[in-house]
Amino acid sequence: MLHDNRTFLRAFLRSPQVVASVIPSSSFVERRVVRAADVSRAGVVVELGGGVGGITRSLLQAMGPQARLLVIERTDRFVEVLKRIDDSRIEIVHGCASSIVAQLARRKRPAADAVVSGIPFSTMPKALGAEIISAVHDALAPGGRFVAYQLSDRVVRYARPLLGEPAIEYEFRNVPPLRIFTWHKAGSPRKSNGI
Ligand SMILES: C[S@@+](CC[C@H](N)C(=O)[O-])C[C@H]1O[C@@H](n2cnc3c(N)ncnc32)[C@H](O)[C@@H]1O
Repeated sequence: MLHDNRTFLRAFLRSPQVVASVIPSSSFVERRVVRAADVSRAGVVVELGGGVGGITRSLLQAMGPQARLLVIERTDRFVEVLKRIDDSRIEIVHGCASSIVAQLARRKRPAADAVVSGIPFSTMPKALGAEIISAVHDALAPGGRFVAYQLSDRVVRYARPLLGEPAIEYEFRNVPPLRIFTWHKAGSPRKSNGI
């Protein structure tokens, strides 16, 4: 835990725009995000920006035994930490969230039932933010959920044209306090978990 916090702080000092937070999300955020993503019947879940893996582990706990979790993380030091998670359902990709559709296609997964994102939309170039949201929309199955936990509401500006208005929750027991935005893609969810 302390070691993870140090790893996180070091990564923030190296790339503040990319890491965007000095410590990992609190257990309160983890619980709220996992509840919002509702992954218990999901077949394929994607996490964007896993960091040192707190939300990653909570997602795995909530997911079924046949489900798959694909984590796309841009910071190499975090990729090393995430690769230590010993669970056959997880795969870690070192890359940018914008590659989500290509990464699913490479694994012959047609779509994600849920996408959970901690990447900082407020500090990235606008073109990249718009590209990532468009890719998330394309990657989601009908009825799929997109959950983004953020300090700023910049993500809403990117997502509104494609996904409409989000449900918003607040979690103050975190540094910094965060909002949790949840969207549902139009359409009915798949009946089986797609595996
Ligand atoms: C605020 S931290 C959240 C980390 C962790 N999920 C948590 O809740 O503690 C943002 C994370 O997004 C990653 N990240 C930032 N931009 C990214 C991108 N374009 N693609 C993938 N990961 C990205 C960072 O490396 C960092 O791990």
